[in-house]
Amino acid sequence: MAPSETFSNLLRAAAPVLALAPMQDVTTLQFMRVLHRYGGPDVYWTEYFRVHGDSRPEKWILDSITKNPTGRPVVAQLIGNDIPALVRNAKLLQQFPVAAIDLNLGCPAPIVYRKCAGGGLLREPEKIDAILGALRAAVTIPFTVKTRLGFASPAEFAALLKIFAKHPIDLLTVHARTVAQMYRPGVRYDLIAHAAKEMHCPVLLNGNVFSAAQAQQLLAETGARGLMIGRGAIRNPWLFAQIRAQLRGETVKLPAGRDLLNYIHELWDNEITPGVRESAQVQRMKKFTNFIGEGIGAQFLHDIRRVSVTADFWRVCEQFLAHDEPLALAPINSPNPAGQP
Ligand SMILES: Cc1cc2nc3c(=O)[nH]c(=O)nc-3n(C[C@H](O)[C@H](O)[C@H](O)COP(=O)(O)O)c2cc1C
Repeated sequence: MAPSETFSNLLRAAAPVLALAPMQDVTTLQFMRVLHRYGGPDVYWTEYFRVHGDSRPEKWILDSITKNPTGRPVVAQLIGNDIPALVRNAKLLQQFPVAAIDLNLGCPAPIVYRKCAGGGLLREPEKIDAILGALRAAVTIPFTVKTRLGFASPAEFAALLKIFAKHPIDLLTVHARTVAQMYRPGVRYDLIAHAAKEMHCPVLLNGNVFSAAQAQQLLAETGARGLMIGRGAIRNPWLFAQIRAQLRGETVKLPAGRDLLNYIHELWDNEITPGVRESAQVQRMKKFTNFIGEGIGAQFLHDIRRVSVTADFWRVCEQFLAHDEPLALAPINSPNPAGQP
């Protein structure tokens, strides 16, 4: 079955859809391979393909589509504001085995939003309207949008929703923060419930999902069609399997310290390119341990951020994780571990 068909079936099925959020420099082919071994999401997203005048899809991102090792669908995400270039790249990408084409309307990086792409486009609703019209007309497979609530204020969301609802998009993912808010607290799940009511298409909830019980509660509270999870899945690769168990009414198994240690070893084995400088390899791993560490504790984060050689990297990991105690892997600085924003 074509990935786009599998994806459409997922959206129509009864079970909540579990998606891995797109994350630049993280959601690589290698990371997908590791995550899949832990149960994985129902659908993966690529990090964004940067689209401008004469751009072509980046080879290393394309690899996660053409060499997809998971057997599950992969959605290709685009970022940009040049309509002919977006249309050209969308048409190019849909010749590959992609599940859908997704438009990024949320990236909060100043270098992106100052060019009025990603989250920056939320300041230009008319431009969004034009882009959605052009892409919807060009894309023959599912076409989806990932947005934040607005640029400066959640009050912008109502008008944005009207534009999204005007176009026959197949899915809307809402990261329930504004661009200005970056990743700060104050996730507005209530506005996801509003979107789920207003939109004709399914809505995925995104933002700070980190436990199975919280996931179940958010699905019930908001009426979202599913969950898109980013940092929670880097920290806890069991999370998708835990959510499925929770929704089936089964006991959720927590990993032990040693299980997390094995996961970090798997990341190392998959992410490290032979011949690369040791310090660069450790640096690459710190990209992951910076997120994973939020589920371990402040001292681990402090220590791991200071290592620069392989031996020290593993010494710190062993020191904190060579044990059999269960780990909830909720973020240590979560304002409220019960899952409220
Ligand atoms: C390292 C990193 C890279 C990201 N890259 C992208 C991206 O390429 N495209 C995108 O739409 N969002 C990107 N995001 C945002 C995530 O997809 C997601 O919306 C955000 O992290 C909130 O979800 P979470 O709380 O489950 O992590 C990125 C987030 C992080 C942490």
